[in-house]
Amino acid sequence: MRKPLIAGNWKMHKTLDDARELVTGIVDGVGKLGASDGVEVLICTPFTLLFPIAKALANTPVMFGAQNAHEEAQGAFTGEVSVPMLKDTGCTHVIIGHSERRHVFGEKNDRLAKKVRAVVDAGLTVIYCVGETLDEREAGKTREVIESQMGEVIDSDVLADRLVVAYEPVWAIGTGKTASPEQAQEVHGWVRASLASTYDKTTADGVRILYGGSVKPGNAAELLSLPDVDGALVGGACLVASDFIAIISAAAASVPA
Ligand code: PGA
Repeated sequence: MRKPLIAGNWKMHKTLDDARELVTGIVDGVGKLGASDGVEVLICTPFTLLFPIAKALANTPVMFGAQNAHEEAQGAFTGEVSVPMLKDTGCTHVIIGHSERRHVFGEKNDRLAKKVRAVVDAGLTVIYCVGETLDEREAGKTREVIESQMGEVIDSDVLADRLVVAYEPVWAIGTGKTASPEQAQEVHGWVRASLASTYDKTTADGVRILYGGSVKPGNAAELLSLPDVDGALVGGACLVASDFIAIISAAAASVPA
């Protein structure tokens, strides 16, 4: 059984005071739900917040992570942050290959492969993002794009226990448009098939595949009920504690008793 993971991607939002308030709301909400046995909850904050958030989350079930990392451990890379530096904060997860990294910052599969390896080899869990643009979908290329994003980045040396994949159609991120349940399930099935060909079926069946792209309290239950959707990567709705908690609650309700 794959335990659902609800991950919040804060992107470039929140200064310290606002962050503390949001974290308090999330921790209180998770406590009231009592959902931490059935659902894993993660927040991925800006780098500047990692140390204070580590303190705020101590002795709570909420995990924290980063949104990017450089592939090298150290060096002359002005403005970058390495995985060993992230490990110092006590964080457990790093998002790699988010569509904004791919499309705004030009990160390509060959570089993302190095980043994924750096995260996993350091003992952290990677949330590796894949997803097609609207043009690619309309040109009928979705499967091809997803398979190359998977095949060129995830090889069998990447420890599957430390891998989470997030399918985020680029056209659904921050737009209010969501993939239909059929579209989401179809792509999640392709991701799982790609994992099965890289590893084997049993290993592929153990890897969580999150859906992301305008996940909200109102659509979370339907998406999370799909057989190959094992959680959500949430952007906008994770910045409001009550919305994020409602999504966690939907995930808890999706777990068979
Ligand atoms: P969104 O963002 O929920 O605001 O669409 C999701 C993401 O970019 O991870």
